[in-house]
Amino acid sequence: MKILVTGGAGFIGSHLVDRLLEIGHEVVVVDNLTTGYRHNLNPCAKFYEAPLLDPGLGEIFQREKPDIVSHHAAQNDVRRSNTDPIFDAQHNIIGSIRLIQHCIKYGVKKVIYASSGGTVYGEPTYLPVDEAHPIAPISPYGISKHTVEHYLFLASANADLNYTVLRYANIYGPRQHSRGGSGVIAIFADSMLKGEPPTIFGDGSSTRDYLFISDAVEANLLALSGGDREIYHVSNGEQINLEELFCRLKGIIGSITGREGIFEMSPVYAEPRLGEIHRIALSPEKIQRDLGWLPQIPLQEGLEQTVPYCRSLSTVFPTSVREGA
Ligand SMILES: NC(=O)c1ccc[n+]([C@@H]2O[C@H](COP(=O)([O-])OP(=O)(O)OC[C@H]3O[C@@H](n4cnc5c(N)ncnc54)[C@H](O)[C@@H]3O)[C@@H](O)[C@H]2O)c1
Repeated sequence: MKILVTGGAGFIGSHLVDRLLEIGHEVVVVDNLTTGYRHNLNPCAKFYEAPLLDPGLGEIFQREKPDIVSHHAAQNDVRRSNTDPIFDAQHNIIGSIRLIQHCIKYGVKKVIYASSGGTVYGEPTYLPVDEAHPIAPISPYGISKHTVEHYLFLASANADLNYTVLRYANIYGPRQHSRGGSGVIAIFADSMLKGEPPTIFGDGSSTRDYLFISDAVEANLLALSGGDREIYHVSNGEQINLEELFCRLKGIIGSITGREGIFEMSPVYAEPRLGEIHRIALSPEKIQRDLGWLPQIPLQEGLEQTVPYCRSLSTVFPTSVREGA
């Protein structure tokens, strides 16, 4: 199949592109390289450097005629969405509506949409959260990620466009960038590798569920041929608090780098940030039942694969490249 991946130069999108090519699909990437990197791009994918709102997007669809669109492009900085909700809405809502319009016009069969389980529900009223939990986002980012789900539902009802919504947990792994306030594992590892204590917003007791990138990619592969017109959590459902995450990283970084001093490091604590919830864990029961998806990589193993990448980045790329300049 020919699959167009928006955001295919980013963290999740680029891993997905690699895997799609590996199993024999033809891949087209549309990415404006705002938070994605050229070095993430698989040379076997056809690349268009363009924003979703590019007037030429229709021509790309006309030329490429993709069977499936995997929609991963987004402004995904919660803090930026608070300070500039219009920017967030333009990229995440208007950009996605334009994309969906092109999908309808050019006969795309299905859209697989990367939504956010950590932000669409707001502060959960029960745990683990299932897909039927009330929606009450507390950030413009959460609102924009959820709004697109409605447009997909509408496009499915009115124009017969098939879709699967994947509401991700906190995905982590190699290629995740450490700027913009998202990607706490990359942020913590980056600063600890520099010998600087990371900042924990709040008292360290807030919890998240973390899923390794290869498991998220496998859920995307299953959605190519299943999960039609459904919403799924992509998560292992396990809550870990920030204090524990910090301690695990300390152990791994200490053993990899041999830096004794790391074991004495304590985090810096700061006020909790606007738009962030205290606890979350997404139930993966539905995707396990319907698609047979099962996460394979436990947190410790995933962290052990991620830290060496963060370490290599600090030596391979100068700061300006890592910051996306
Ligand atoms: N990483 C996570 O834990 C997580 C959790 C929930 C949801 N998501 C969603 O998954 C998707 C991918 O996230 P990621 O972590 O890989 O982030 P990322 O920043 O690494 O990737 C996003 C990519 O989209 C591109 N992009 C951004 N705005 C664009 C636009 N308007 N037009 C074209 N390209 C644009 C960026 O250059 C980047 O390559 C996003 O939609 C995000 O909301 C991620």
